Amino acid sequence: MHDRRTSFRITPTAPDAAAGAGIPKRTPASEVPPVLRSFPAADALEWYVSARPQVLGFLAEHQYGFIPPRPETIRIVQVGRRRNLCDGRVHRRTYQLTLENAGRSFTFQAAVYSPADVPVKAAVASLNFYTLDRIDNEPERYPLALLAGSGIKLATISHNDLFPDRPTAEARKNSIYSLYGNISGRDRRFTAISAWAFGYQLLYELLQTPRERFGGPVWAQGHSRLGKTALWAVANDPRFAGVVSNQSGCGGAAIYRDKGGEDIDRIVARFPYWFVPELDKYRFRENELPWDQNWLMACIAPRPLLVTSATEDAWACPENEFLAAKLAGEVYRLFGVRGIAANAKFPAPDRPLFTPGIGYYVRTGRHTVLREDWRHIIDFMKLNGMDLK
Ligand code: GCU
Repeated sequence: MHDRRTSFRITPTAPDAAAGAGIPKRTPASEVPPVLRSFPAADALEWYVSARPQVLGFLAEHQYGFIPPRPETIRIVQVGRRRNLCDGRVHRRTYQLTLENAGRSFTFQAAVYSPADVPVKAAVASLNFYTLDRIDNEPERYPLALLAGSGIKLATISHNDLFPDRPTAEARKNSIYSLYGNISGRDRRFTAISAWAFGYQLLYELLQTPRERFGGPVWAQGHSRLGKTALWAVANDPRFAGVVSNQSGCGGAAIYRDKGGEDIDRIVARFPYWFVPELDKYRFRENELPWDQNWLMACIAPRPLLVTSATEDAWACPENEFLAAKLAGEVYRLFGVRGIAANAKFPAPDRPLFTPGIGYYVRTGRHTVLREDWRHIIDFMKLNGMDLK
């Protein structure tokens, strides 16, 4: 997929004044590379058929690894049902998913929460950090009645079920990659982020089964490491209608160059299994990266992209998350979608800067997902054509 002959013109140029505008106390020391400089495209079609697949191949090789292929069979069987959640406003179906490939199999569960008395207009696929039985009792992370009341179905899998979130050889051996052969637990080509991204694709398929199908758009949402994952999943998979990254930070929505908080050295030291080893080469050398995270988000164009931060989340670096959301507009504009204006200033806390296409806000408070975030997410979905309550 990736053309190895592509050469990257990383010419030192004066920092782009517009790109740095509004970024408090931080001006990128080296210019953030526009994706269209390395992968030129005259129009949206050329971007989509030629540049985008190459950019995705590049990001797979340098950062996330490749998302596993579809196994020979995916069996989805309903194993549970509850009708009376949230005073009867939400019902839940649980499913067992069995994936089979070359005589091997891999099994785990998923849950789908649906409105009981409101027509379903959209679905959100969300990988979670918990075990499934906790989702019913996480009213901030997953405000089920609010979502259902708006006409949104929520489909979820626990990320640990696809790739245990630990830096051990054992974790990789027990991951979804085991379906494809005897992999070495130390082979870093097989990353957790791509395994989890595969989980988003499975949630999409689950939402197409006869009991869950509703004929509307499916978005993906993820927090933090799962926000990084949601961006990667949706960048690769055109079936998703939109994506929400909540505080995904380093390796997610944030520009690496001159980033506050976490950097490549810190992230690959603690979480080597999230990324391919190629990323290690850029420890302390962010300014030499041939790409930056605006490239990832450009691959989502022209679909709606919402990037969110929290004021106390300096580790993720809100300013650089905003910068990436703004710079991704380069490709959205090829599709006639305006995105966030190049001279837009970093917005005040709790003041969403939403455009059709790209949205950003920084919420007051800490690194987590709150009901308040979901309210903003629903507003952004509505602005982008979803007919929600
Ligand atoms: C750590 C990690 C971040 C990640 C976060 C999370 O803080 O350094 O990169 O986003 O965990 O997933 O909550």
